Amino acid sequence: MGKIFVDACLGRETPYTPVWMMRQAGRYLPEYMAVREKAGNFLNLCHNPEMAAEVTLQPVDIVGVDAAILFSDILVVPNEMGMHLDFVKGEGPVFEKPIEDSSDLDRLRGGEEAASRLSYVYETIGIVRERLADDKALIGFCGAPWTLATYMIEGQGTKTYNVCKKMMYSEPELLHRILEKVTEVVKYYMEKQIEAGIDVVQIFDSWAAAIEPSKYDEFSWKYMVEIADYLKSKYPDTPIIMFPKGVPAFLDQVYGNFDVFGVDWSTPMAFAKEKLGDRYVLQGNMEPCRLYSKEATRECVESLAETMKEGRHIFNLGHGILPDVPVENAKYFVKLCQDVSREMRS
Ligand code: CP3
Repeated sequence: MGKIFVDACLGRETPYTPVWMMRQAGRYLPEYMAVREKAGNFLNLCHNPEMAAEVTLQPVDIVGVDAAILFSDILVVPNEMGMHLDFVKGEGPVFEKPIEDSSDLDRLRGGEEAASRLSYVYETIGIVRERLADDKALIGFCGAPWTLATYMIEGQGTKTYNVCKKMMYSEPELLHRILEKVTEVVKYYMEKQIEAGIDVVQIFDSWAAAIEPSKYDEFSWKYMVEIADYLKSKYPDTPIIMFPKGVPAFLDQVYGNFDVFGVDWSTPMAFAKEKLGDRYVLQGNMEPCRLYSKEATRECVESLAETMKEGRHIFNLGHGILPDVPVENAKYFVKLCQDVSREMRS
């Protein structure tokens, strides 16, 4: 049986529009909380292939999405490059010693050496592959070099990005050296994920909006395109999704060899369709907080289906699902996307 999600990524006709949710494997599911409890903490869970596979599959079984996304985190990459990572309760991810200068960077592992250390990720993919139904797809992912670099330079999440932007404007060569090194690791990492059995790649540039539009290509997009070019040269049939969050002003300049453009919730879908709909399949983009209300969910799903009825589309949220969303509402969203789009095609 074909995979409807892969078909949709490649712009082929499908019986309905497939749907998945960013951050679908996570804290809103009591079943996830139970496995995390058993693992002890979040990083242990990422490092345990059996448990990581279990939570990867949960949203497919419980919520009915058309694709699973590998359970892991974008920050396991800098972690294996040699930066000590901790998830601190209430604060999120923290790197003990952020990169301050080129000697900090030179100490880190690069390329294949760093990528090979992520063997627990490739093992997780193998287990999921065995258990996932034939008609469901498995999405592998990585962070965009820029988004990873923000954590590596700031040491943690930030509201102002002042440390990495200080580097952007006063030591751009150093920032480019960091981005190049991360890009190299990510190329090997995604290649190994594909070899291990993922069907689709998504590159998350969650902090794209921190860069002013005239600098976005130079410091982020071109590195994402470099990764996509590398993967396409080796695996032309594996679809690639680019998700730069919050960059509507960049839509006129989007270029590159990839298949799907992930639209975040701040960009109107009709606007994205006008700018990019003839070149890329569009994914998204319900505002995640609409999931608190079934009525607000229905209104948005119907409007997206109408906007995209003659376009190539994948339903998703416009960013990650939040931990306090009722599971029932997530199920409602998923089924509604599938039903409304199936009906429109008949
Ligand atoms: O379901 C899925 O989407 C798959 C798993 C996944 C996680 N993180 C699990 C996770 C994915 C794809 C990510 C990506 C990720 N991680 C991004 C990019 C996507 C985005 O949302 O923009 C970013 C920026 C990170 C970094 C990160 N990881 C942060 C900032 C945090 C803490 C904030 C938070 O949400 O708690 C994490 C932790 C994290 N990653 C959790 C999960 C399920 C929560 C950990 C827990 O169980 O407590």
